[in-house]
Amino acid sequence: MTTDHAALTATVDLDAITRNARVIAERSGVPLIAVVKADGYGHGALPAARAALAGGATEVGVAHISEARALRAAGLTEHLTAWLHTPDADFAGAIADDIDIAVSSPRQLAAVVAAAREAGTTATVTAKVDTGLGRSGIAYDEWDDTARAIAAAQAEGAIDLRAAMCHLAFGDEPDNPMNSQQAANLDRAVDDLRGLGVTPQVTHIANSPAALTRPDLARDLVRPGIALYGCSPIRGRDFGLTPAMTLSAEIALVKKIPSGQGVSYSHQWIAPRDTTVAVVPSGYADGVPRLLSGRLEVVVNGRRFAGVGRICMDQFVIDLGPDGGGVAEGDRAYLFGATPDGSTPIPVADDWADAIGTIDYEIVTGVRGRTVRRYVGHGDG
Ligand SMILES: Cc1ncc(COP(=O)(O)O)c(C=O)c1O
Repeated sequence: MTTDHAALTATVDLDAITRNARVIAERSGVPLIAVVKADGYGHGALPAARAALAGGATEVGVAHISEARALRAAGLTEHLTAWLHTPDADFAGAIADDIDIAVSSPRQLAAVVAAAREAGTTATVTAKVDTGLGRSGIAYDEWDDTARAIAAAQAEGAIDLRAAMCHLAFGDEPDNPMNSQQAANLDRAVDDLRGLGVTPQVTHIANSPAALTRPDLARDLVRPGIALYGCSPIRGRDFGLTPAMTLSAEIALVKKIPSGQGVSYSHQWIAPRDTTVAVVPSGYADGVPRLLSGRLEVVVNGRRFAGVGRICMDQFVIDLGPDGGGVAEGDRAYLFGATPDGSTPIPVADDWADAIGTIDYEIVTGVRGRTVRRYVGHGDG
């Protein structure tokens, strides 16, 4: 939903996504598959995909077929890959929508082949190989059989093997030897396929951190997600990315409280002096982690104020100080991202993540509840 005004707003800067895509394409030296699963990491899958395509992405990737089909239905015509399927996955629908189905087992391949035969058409398929992540991907002991089945299905015309891919276990540790080992394992799998007379048209390995730091692993395409959204995929490394999401909320209430007054559930913060507090209408149901209680800061009118007491389901409280800090009801509190004029640094999603022992992926994908998404920029940088 797009609106000009909301109590709680996630503002998504589409130009930032376009610029971030350019940064990644430049560093990796190859075009991008823009990863927009989980509703574009909370930024909106379709606008995020379009913004990334404007900046150097040539394809789009998601986890579920349903996500890919929704993008197709919304008018996205670019190559779309989906890579996570349950046994009753909608392979017929994926084939009808010309979605590249990345298979992780001979059973998935057989189901895709059956759906293609049934439809009397050819399915586009990617071989997703487990080269060491130990998660999705064709298992070591199933590789030989699957490779032979891929060759047979291609010879029959039931599938067209478009790609071979794998996902890295240590992408965020650029020098970890597993990265090169996984790439070598994928190259060997491609050799096996070639030996069977079926050569994938493209190969891709790298997620955001590898796309930004290991151009030697890039192969034909890279598959960045988090970096498109301006979050640094390696803690402490600055790649010149711009955070695309800013979370802000309108101050609901300003009031004075006396010294000694406890604030919020269990009175975990007691006012050490007469002071003024403000209520920010955003809580854990909206994606502000309760674990940040007493550990977050917001910016209002260019000044930083500390969150005090427990973060609740719908709201939390900030301490404005005895003079009220010049803050009025209706002013906007910036929680993470960037202020509109960029003049005051505010926390980024990674700061929140760091404070509570998680990753910024979880922060941006966790924005939800009453938050209204609003777009700025045109997605052309
Ligand atoms: C298979 C696959 N490729 C690429 C990505 C993008 O990863 P990142 O967001 O770290 O760039 C993901 C996300 O987890 C993924 O599952």
